[in-house]
Amino acid sequence: MNLVLIGFMGSGKSEVGSRLAAVLGMGLADTDARIEERAGISIAHIFEREGEDVFRALERQVVADAAAGDGLVIATGGGVVLDRRNVDALRDNGLIFYLDIEGEDAHIRTAGDAARPLLNVGDREGEVRRLLEQRRPLYEASAHYRIRVSGKSVEELVQEIVEIWRR
Ligand code: S3P
Repeated sequence: MNLVLIGFMGSGKSEVGSRLAAVLGMGLADTDARIEERAGISIAHIFEREGEDVFRALERQVVADAAAGDGLVIATGGGVVLDRRNVDALRDNGLIFYLDIEGEDAHIRTAGDAARPLLNVGDREGEVRRLLEQRRPLYEASAHYRIRVSGKSVEELVQEIVEIWRR
């Protein structure tokens, strides 16, 4: 069984995922990092040079590979839920936790980060709100558990998830 983290950009999937893997003694599959390894260039560059469709196709392959593994903490990219095939593959052998972050916090945490191509627009705050509104129902429908992120430290989030995982 895999432990899967989904949620919006800035919700802490990578950081919480790497701590969870350490605490639980599980392997870590950070899909964004694996996409960059496979492509040999950064995500920002994939978007810039090849476009979002190429990125999503790479994401689908990397997600399918990770989902086929076992005993992994899988930290996904914020858009993984846009493709039903990703969600189905991840749910097949995984318990999915949705890291639910407030729009304002997501905006603060991603502000000035050029590595997130979808937010390289004039009105970043409006774009965070728009994307979050569009995706929230998908995150909710895809997850087994929803974990509220705002106001909690990484360690608190890890403890909360570990408790559910060990039940
Ligand atoms: C994306 C989120 C990013 C990365 C890519 C697309 C999205 O991951 O996969 O830029 O569509 O929300 P993070 O959620 O780790 O920032």
